[in-house]
Amino acid sequence: MTELGTALMERLDALAAHSQDSSDQGGRALTRLFLSAQHKAAADQVAAWMKDAGMAVHLDPIATVVGRYEGATPGAPALLLGSHIDTVRNAGKYDGNLGVLAAIAAVAELNRLGERLPFAIEVLAFGDEEGVRFPHTLTGSRAIVGRFDADALEGRDREGVRMADALRAFGGDPDSIASVTRKPGEALAFVELHIEQGPVLEAEGLPIGIVTAINGASRFSVRVRGVAGHAGTVPMGHRRDALVAAAEMVLAVERIASSIANLVATVGRIEAKPGAVNVIPGEVVFTMDVRAPEDFVRDAACTAIRTELEGIAARRGVAMTIEGTHNDAAAVCSPAIIERIEAAIRRAGIRPLHLPSGAGHDAMSFAGALPMGMLFVRCKGGISHNPAESITVEDADLSVRILLDLLRHFDHETLRA
Ligand code: GLV
Ligand code: MN
Ligand code: MN
Repeated sequence: MTELGTALMERLDALAAHSQDSSDQGGRALTRLFLSAQHKAAADQVAAWMKDAGMAVHLDPIATVVGRYEGATPGAPALLLGSHIDTVRNAGKYDGNLGVLAAIAAVAELNRLGERLPFAIEVLAFGDEEGVRFPHTLTGSRAIVGRFDADALEGRDREGVRMADALRAFGGDPDSIASVTRKPGEALAFVELHIEQGPVLEAEGLPIGIVTAINGASRFSVRVRGVAGHAGTVPMGHRRDALVAAAEMVLAVERIASSIANLVATVGRIEAKPGAVNVIPGEVVFTMDVRAPEDFVRDAACTAIRTELEGIAARRGVAMTIEGTHNDAAAVCSPAIIERIEAAIRRAGIRPLHLPSGAGHDAMSFAGALPMGMLFVRCKGGISHNPAESITVEDADLSVRILLDLLRHFDHETLRA
């Protein structure tokens, strides 16, 4: 009796084949970056599944695949569902993809049964939630609510490719991103289903939960400039080694973050130049990601980290710049959506558990602009951003059924943000 779940798991496996490199981790790793050839192939596959589910489909100018299932009255306001189809490097196959494919599966059921709701449904497959390729992130979801930052288009990837050029090559249109913004009255709300990426649901013995709020996040690119030199000739006391300075900075980030309750900070990528065994590193660039449930705590931590890094740079005689690349306030889910999700979970006979999200999600782009909310699905061991990410077919099945039930009971007339 898990035919919806079985079909969904098959599609998740099929979509995971669109990967840049699956040679790591015994062929299970998945890497699908924004605007890559693999993203294009996955977007085409998702579009085909949307069409099969009875939706009218298009790729919008910022590379979101949009599928629309009309309500009883064509042109009615739409309830927006969805998540993202880009991944981190060496990802699992459920982060983002589950929310997109579960939403398509729910619409496919409505279509199969000939059901039309009093509102339209739009399933959105965003391409840019992870922010791994370019400095900015959440560009697809932000565009929907008019929050797209045009600076993002000038951002470049590791190879120096400008986002605007990659977007054009993909089939998007950097010049008409503003057209994506939904006009007042066109969209009712945004609901995202996602794996929890943490251990709480599993520990509680629950398959599904209700998200209360999403942590805010700030991201930075830190550049340290020292002096490159000969590894054999420059005595230790004469060096201005950018990598050693950066190493001290990384430890300072860890130390400061560890001293603040509920705050996390991560240096996820570091690159030293020129990058040769016999050359003292002259330049280092590293990323920094800082998150907390409360904005004032995050802001204070960012200031403290900046001060500390400036001190290290001054003491070591290196130059340093810190560029902010992303800033998202903590986002509280809408009571009206929480209420509706909770009711659907209760109707399935499941104890409704409320929990916050430490990870970022497309849903946060909508906070304050449209009513938004999220459902979390249990994942094995709370493991995510890792090829070992895993969910059960039973939980996949339940995800589609609860989403369907939510749609069928969705009271769109009394919504409030
Ligand atoms: C996305 O997964 C993020 O939280 O960085
Ligand atoms: Mn995600
Ligand atoms: Mn992710």
